[in-house]
Amino acid sequence: MSYPYQIKNIEQYHHDYKRSIDDPAEFWSTIAEHFTWKKKWHTTLNWNFSEPKIEWFKGAKLNITENCLDRHLEKFADTPALIWEPNDPDEHHRILTYRKLYEKVCQFSHVLKNNGVKKGDRVCIYMGMIPELAIAVLACARVGAIHSVVFGGFSAQSIADRLYDAQAEYIVTCDGAYRGQKDIPLKSVIDDALIGNRIVKKVIVTTRTRTPVSMIKGRDVWWEDEIKKVETLGLTDFPAEEMDAEDPLFILYTSGSTGKPKGVVHSCAGYMLFTTYTFVNVFQYQQGDIHFCTADIGWITGHSYILYGPLSAGATTLMFEGVPTWPDAGRFWNIIDKFKVNILYTAPTAIRSLMGFGLGPVHGHDLSSLKVLGTVGEPINEEAWHWYDEHIGKKKCPIVDTWWQTETGGILISNLAGITPAKASYATLPLPGVHPILVDENGKEVEGNNVSGNLCIKSPWPSTIRTTYGDHERCKTNYFATYPDLYFTGDGALRDENGFYRITGRVDDVLNVSGHRIGTAEVENAINMHANVVESAVVGYPHDIKGQGIYAFVIYQGSHAQNTHGTAEMIRKDIHQTVSRIIGAIAKPDKIQFVSGLPKTRSGKIMRRILRKIAEGETENLGDISTLLDPGVVEEIKNGKL
Ligand code: WT7
Repeated sequence: MSYPYQIKNIEQYHHDYKRSIDDPAEFWSTIAEHFTWKKKWHTTLNWNFSEPKIEWFKGAKLNITENCLDRHLEKFADTPALIWEPNDPDEHHRILTYRKLYEKVCQFSHVLKNNGVKKGDRVCIYMGMIPELAIAVLACARVGAIHSVVFGGFSAQSIADRLYDAQAEYIVTCDGAYRGQKDIPLKSVIDDALIGNRIVKKVIVTTRTRTPVSMIKGRDVWWEDEIKKVETLGLTDFPAEEMDAEDPLFILYTSGSTGKPKGVVHSCAGYMLFTTYTFVNVFQYQQGDIHFCTADIGWITGHSYILYGPLSAGATTLMFEGVPTWPDAGRFWNIIDKFKVNILYTAPTAIRSLMGFGLGPVHGHDLSSLKVLGTVGEPINEEAWHWYDEHIGKKKCPIVDTWWQTETGGILISNLAGITPAKASYATLPLPGVHPILVDENGKEVEGNNVSGNLCIKSPWPSTIRTTYGDHERCKTNYFATYPDLYFTGDGALRDENGFYRITGRVDDVLNVSGHRIGTAEVENAINMHANVVESAVVGYPHDIKGQGIYAFVIYQGSHAQNTHGTAEMIRKDIHQTVSRIIGAIAKPDKIQFVSGLPKTRSGKIMRRILRKIAEGETENLGDISTLLDPGVVEEIKNGKL
């Protein structure tokens, strides 16, 4: 497959960029010609950010899986679509060619249909990183069901909330998942999530760890049994459901600064176009390259750059079940060597953690196949950037620092590998079709270079968030109301003398822990569920590996040290347990400081600014504390800092 829309040099980038901003509809309709449609569109773009209403390729009919699978069968039937590397290096890897993946997706589409799944139904997918996860996702898309993949690290309570919010009637899961030394009992977590649930009709369970599981008659069925029924009938094709361009493709829950996670909704056509376009251009994918994105499919990075983008481009995508540090810290390098990986896309937190093991684990692995390196999820510090460049890329691989969000569906700001310049810790320039602007607190545009502000986007790109599931108003308030007629990213950024963007981090109450987004309010709510917790305040602080750590200030009933419930250390563990139950282990605070009061204004608002400074280790310049109800509390908190 050659990509007529692949940018070949910097002049073309500038040229295409200008065209895309001058006339987005014309620009994207030309690109859309290179995809498979059941019916063409009548209106390329129709939008306003005030509702918001964003419609791309209105009138068109398609199925994204025909673009990810069927259209490659003629030339690439025997080309590997998916390479799967298991957690344990001693277990055999699996390779699914485009033909094989097509067949498996079609078979599982039958299974979904046989179990009652119809177009528009919500299917929750809670699985480890095994090929069946990719198959389940694509089969949902093929039958027109809306998938909602929930990352395997979330708790039963989190799943229950997401099931309810999406009114999901179906679940696809596994008995368990392997991650490093751990064996996570996913089905058992699902069973807990289903206590009291009256909406879910069917749970399809595949086998991976063969952990004992409870199977409930009438509700739970085995994946393997269901596939057998389809095989007995000799079914290897499944007609792809005809979808409207704007029909929802999936829901993916993500955290915000307030309340419960929101279900970000992406639609079929725009998402397909933008993930494919950005995949091909940012990584400069060449036919035959092996692309290794280390994310989990439970996050947007996995959706867009393990599955949809690469498969739609006819690429070979590598999916890894395990973790970077097991059985040793050379696991990534071993995989790159084993499969002669050409593109590695990972997160700064992984790079920093691997840096910590020194060069020993890197040596002895041949990394010469690498052509392009990528990072995503958080700002990359210069030290990590240089280590990645020198020791992994051997100074011959461009590094793409890709800035984007769950809500943006695909990469919005990044250099294009080897085509546009890289600059350490800068995401650099916007992709064609993306019109970033910086605004000040009042929403006034900050023009010119060498400036900073809040990062907004001026007009829609094809994979803009369409709505938050079941609550369009929330989508509007969260993203389109802070600054009228702009999409607000929640990030701060600066623009250097060359117009390159550097993302400086969130400007709202959202933390970025190891590249995962966690709302401070969400963690506080979980901590406050603990029976003895009166109140809490959560802030982020710089963490060497995770980027940000979670620091919780907690008012615990009674003096924690002498409390009959145990020592401070035990109470911290109880709080960890509580957070793990409510959200999942990923949200456990790194530090818990017990305090007798929190710094509040006279109107009762917690002054997080002060807590943030204390958590960061600042003791002198805490700013104006005269408006506090009880300034004395600040002294106590400072003295008790962990
Ligand atoms: C937030 C989005 C996009 C997939 C992974 C995270 C931060 C993301 C970068 C980057 C600096 C980055 C932002 C953004 N972020 N990429 N290259 N440089 N910051 O998706 O969970 O939706 O989080 O991650 O703060 O808003 P997400």
